[in-house]
Amino acid sequence: VNLTQEELKKIAAYKAVEYVKSGMVIGLGTGSTAKHAVDRIGELLRLGELRGIVGIPTSKKTHEQALSLGIPLSDLDSHPVLHLAIDGADEVDPHLNLVKGRGGSLLREKMIEGACEKFIVIVDDSKLVKFLGGSGLAVPVEIVPFCWKNTAMRLREMFKDSGCVAKLRTCGEEAEPFVTDNGNYIIDLYLEKDIGDLQGASDAILRIPCVVENGMFLDMATTVIVAGKKGVEVIDK
Ligand code: A5P
Repeated sequence: VNLTQEELKKIAAYKAVEYVKSGMVIGLGTGSTAKHAVDRIGELLRLGELRGIVGIPTSKKTHEQALSLGIPLSDLDSHPVLHLAIDGADEVDPHLNLVKGRGGSLLREKMIEGACEKFIVIVDDSKLVKFLGGSGLAVPVEIVPFCWKNTAMRLREMFKDSGCVAKLRTCGEEAEPFVTDNGNYIIDLYLEKDIGDLQGASDAILRIPCVVENGMFLDMATTVIVAGKKGVEVIDK
């Protein structure tokens, strides 16, 4: 069978929702893959197969989606520890480190997914990479808008040995700066080479005063569910 990428995303998402049990507090991810998981949770609630779920959405968009499905919602203030979170990723390396944030929701995702007992990442096999940045996609960095050019310059300087290009994310015909749910900007870092020490790089990025968060999710995923043409693989940490 020739499954489309969309079908593969759905297969991975449905597999992840098998881990959801009644009464759980669940982090609801953002993006085209996570959307299928949220839909499925809504469906199981409607069918009465799941009960007493509380969802913690990782973006305004997911909040809207979950509301429309009637999933009861709360936040991290009321639920500092979650049982489970399910979300997509832009890249997954062989150690299950991730790049996230192409959709711009990295900050809330990192806050929520860093607070759960189990974090299941759902991807189609196009997201698997040898090293983070390896697919040619950016590592996003959420920054405060104030003097963003200065921050972009500092990031470029920091990764100059990796052939780094640091670009402000824009949107729309006028190429306006993209603004996150938290009112911040995003600098997309394109790295040509393996940066090696990911934790060191992440820490260095976070030490720049204007930086709020970066899209490297290191040692956070507990399970990665990969859907490919040959089937679904569940990789546990
Ligand atoms: C949202 O900011 C991202 O972290 C997404 O989780 C990630 O980009 C995966 O999205 P897709 O499932 O749409 O590829």
